[in-house]
Amino acid sequence: MDLPLFNQDLEADFPAKAVAIKQVVEQADGVLFVTPEYNRGFSGVLKNAIDWASRPWGKSSFAGKPAAIVGASMGPLGTTQAQSQLRNVLLYLDMKVMGQPEVYFNAITSLDEQGHVVGESREFIKSFAEAFVAHVRSAASPR
Ligand SMILES: Cc1cc2nc3c(=O)[nH]c(=O)nc-3n(C[C@H](O)[C@H](O)[C@H](O)COP(=O)(O)O)c2cc1C
Repeated sequence: MDLPLFNQDLEADFPAKAVAIKQVVEQADGVLFVTPEYNRGFSGVLKNAIDWASRPWGKSSFAGKPAAIVGASMGPLGTTQAQSQLRNVLLYLDMKVMGQPEVYFNAITSLDEQGHVVGESREFIKSFAEAFVAHVRSAASPR
């Protein structure tokens, strides 16, 4: 979406694309972060978007929002490190991050040729989605 690379000098004239991201996050009941793993880290494109929406200082769009993380790669343990790093960032941003279930999605064994989720992964993704909905609801009205 043509989001500029984050540069604090640009905050004085906050880019419209960054304002748009902040609005999307602020209007959402919860945020689902989806990432591949690149060189044992999460996506730099995602980090750039997070950095914009966390600014300006004191006006982060993330504080207190429920969140969950999903990752897909080609290996069985793919995205473990990407997700772990992303979790640290989200916790620093004071998001309410869902701990379980975790999804390390294998894009080779879990998708058919049309890109549809198949096998046990289908039920697992469904249970993850249900858990995330419950997490968002409980964050909205904590017991
Ligand atoms: C530069 C690069 C680095 C990668 N590093 C990892 C990695 O550290 N661990 C992993 O499981 N997969 C790694 N992969 C595989 C990607 O996670 C996989 O191709 C993923 O499905 C790409 O998602 P995308 O199509 O949304 O970019 C890497 C791929 C690229 C292009």
